[in-house]
Amino acid sequence: MQTALSLETIRKDFPILQRKVRENKLLVYLDNASTSQKPIQVIDAINDYYKNQNANIHRAVYALAEEATEAYENTRTKIAKFLNVQKREEIIFVRGTTEAINLVAYSWGRQNVNKGDIIVTTEYEHHSNIVPWQLLTKERGAKLEYIGVDDNGELILDQLDSYLETGKVKLVTFSQMSNVLGTITNTDEIIKRCKKVGVKTLIDGAQSVPHMKVDLSKLECDFFAFSAHKMLGPTGVGVLWVRKEVLETMQPFHGGGDMIREVHKYETTWNDLPYKFEAGTPNIADVIGFSAAIDYLNKIGMDNIRNHEIELTKYALDKMSKVKGITIYGPKDIAKRGGVISFNFHDVHPHDVATIIDKDGVAVRSGHHCAQVLMERLDVAATNRASFYVYNTKQEIDALIGSLNKVAELFKL
Ligand SMILES: Cc1ncc(COP(=O)(O)O)c(C=O)c1O
Repeated sequence: MQTALSLETIRKDFPILQRKVRENKLLVYLDNASTSQKPIQVIDAINDYYKNQNANIHRAVYALAEEATEAYENTRTKIAKFLNVQKREEIIFVRGTTEAINLVAYSWGRQNVNKGDIIVTTEYEHHSNIVPWQLLTKERGAKLEYIGVDDNGELILDQLDSYLETGKVKLVTFSQMSNVLGTITNTDEIIKRCKKVGVKTLIDGAQSVPHMKVDLSKLECDFFAFSAHKMLGPTGVGVLWVRKEVLETMQPFHGGGDMIREVHKYETTWNDLPYKFEAGTPNIADVIGFSAAIDYLNKIGMDNIRNHEIELTKYALDKMSKVKGITIYGPKDIAKRGGVISFNFHDVHPHDVATIIDKDGVAVRSGHHCAQVLMERLDVAATNRASFYVYNTKQEIDALIGSLNKVAELFKL
């Protein structure tokens, strides 16, 4: 990796990668699209907060409370810088991508989506970018439509045009990178077409922000969501970014402490942005841990991370495509995909494949990957999925292939 940190140094920062699993096998962790591992710097930051700074934020005036508030708010500023957002009040802390999308559907959706309106999503969305819109459209008497996926694993954008032509579309919502196919969406093109007709856009950045440079000042979408735990940070923290003009029109999602200015018996006025959308005691420790994760990513450099994953993915696709009986899904062109490779092996059930290779310490996901609509489109019940991150090596890909060969031997394929 072309960075100040060598791959060897990076791996030493992740204690879990030193672990042996099953029959004393070194862990080969290839389930990063699900969640990433955490470097010691993140673990220490959380530990240090509980040991030395633990206090509630935005309330008390004593030293600990001030320190905790400062550390929490500094993370907001750091994230704004990471995404090139000029207005830090546009960054809202939530539990993750799922909560971020539900917030938009509940608040903005209920105010703006009416009978006969259309919400457009895609066939390669995670359930968290489908189910909230099903709930909303059913409640409001609106319709949910899908942009289809072609045989190369890319979106069929002509279908977007036919929805936009109806004049009824209120929002187009899509992931910047598919968590199953690895496809990198042509985000600029979708936003351009939507903006031309005044339609809002939401981007699910759960799989993109951890793996490539994302500049929100250039993207021109209206809503953007992602999770800390897929980018070296802790679970239970995520971010919703909303363009300020839109955020100012939105009603709160949750009611409670911190999101208010004044509460009377029958009326309440709201706090300033972003606090209006952060009710109750937030996940302070993990937001502070998230800050350490961003420092770590910045130290490596997002472009270096993308390049490292391109190299690994190229290597893996090349080696895997030579394995007899393998079916690989998603774009062939490396520039159009991230480090996520879904595959099926002969007709062995993906759970069996994953169980057998786990004996060698190789951890890959098997199942529908919270993307059952896509499974239907691919006409499969499930797939295996190997997904890479900053600490993965070519030797680990070799280990995966070696274990797949053992599956073939076992099933006499
Ligand atoms: C593309 C995509 N969107 C949304 C999510 C949901 O993220 P979370 O479970 O952190 O809310 C995931 C998680 O796998 C994902 O891959």
